[in-house]
Amino acid sequence: MNSSFYLSNPPVVLNEKFTTGTVGTVTVRVLEQADIIQAANVIGDSFQIGAAFGRWLMPLFKLGIREDLYSRLREQDPQRAIALVATVNRSTSKVVGTIEVTNRGTLYHASLAKRYAYIANLAVDDGYRSLGIGRQLVSQCESIASQWGFGYIYLHVMSENPAANHLYTKMGFEVLCSDRTWHLLPWKRSSRLFLRKALA
Ligand SMILES: CC(C)(COP(=O)(O)OP(=O)(O)OC[C@H]1O[C@@H](n2cnc3c(N)ncnc32)[C@H](O)[C@@H]1OP(=O)(O)O)[C@@H](O)C(=O)NCCC(=O)NCCS
Repeated sequence: MNSSFYLSNPPVVLNEKFTTGTVGTVTVRVLEQADIIQAANVIGDSFQIGAAFGRWLMPLFKLGIREDLYSRLREQDPQRAIALVATVNRSTSKVVGTIEVTNRGTLYHASLAKRYAYIANLAVDDGYRSLGIGRQLVSQCESIASQWGFGYIYLHVMSENPAANHLYTKMGFEVLCSDRTWHLLPWKRSSRLFLRKALA
C-alpha cells in the first residue's frame, strides 16, 4: 500500500511526500492538545526518562512531560517554536513520533549566530522505527527552519545512540563539537555531540 506524508494545520507550507509501504498513511502535523498524552508516552518510552530511578517512576516522569507539552502548546509562537507529531490511522490519529524545532536565542557555541534553529525531542514509537518516520520529522523541521530564514539547523545527540547518529549522518549533519557528560557510574561517561546541517 502506498503511503504519504503531509502536514495539516500548517503555520508554514510543507509538501513532503513519503512512502513506507507497511503502515499506511503517515501524517506529520502540528501537535494538538488531543495528542499530548500519546506524545508524552512516545517521548517517555523512547528516552526511557526516569528508568534509571526505577520503572515505577515512569508514570511520574510522563506526567511531567505532559505538563511541559501543555504549557508549550499554550505559549506556542509559530515563529519561535513548533512541535510536530507523526500519526498513523486517520480515524484514531495514533501518535507514533514527535519532534520540536525552536528558534533559539542563547549563544551556545562560538560559531552560532545570535539566533539559531534547534531540533529537540525527536522520538519514534518502538513499533514504528526504521520506516523513515524519523527522517520525515527531521526534514519537516529543516523546512520550517528554512522558512524562518535560517541557513543552518542544529541539534544534540549522545555519541552512544547508533540509530540517531546513523540517521543524522545520512541526512547530512556534521559534528561541530562534543562535551563529556557525567553519569552516576563513572565508567558510563559518554559524549554529547553538537551537530549542524546547512539548509538548502
Ligand atoms: C532515532 C529515532 C528517532 C529514529 O527514528 P526512525 O523512525 O527509526 O528513523 P528512520 O527510519 O528515518 O531512520 C533510522 C535509520 O537508522 C537505522 N538504524 C536503526 N537502528 C540502528 C542501529 N541500532 N544502529 C545503526 N543504525 C540504525 C535504520 O536502519 C535507518 O537507516 P536506513 O534508512 O539507512 O535504513 C528512533 O530510533 C528513536 O526514537 N530513538 C529513541 C529516541 C532517540 O534516541 N531520539 C534521538 C535523540 S537525539
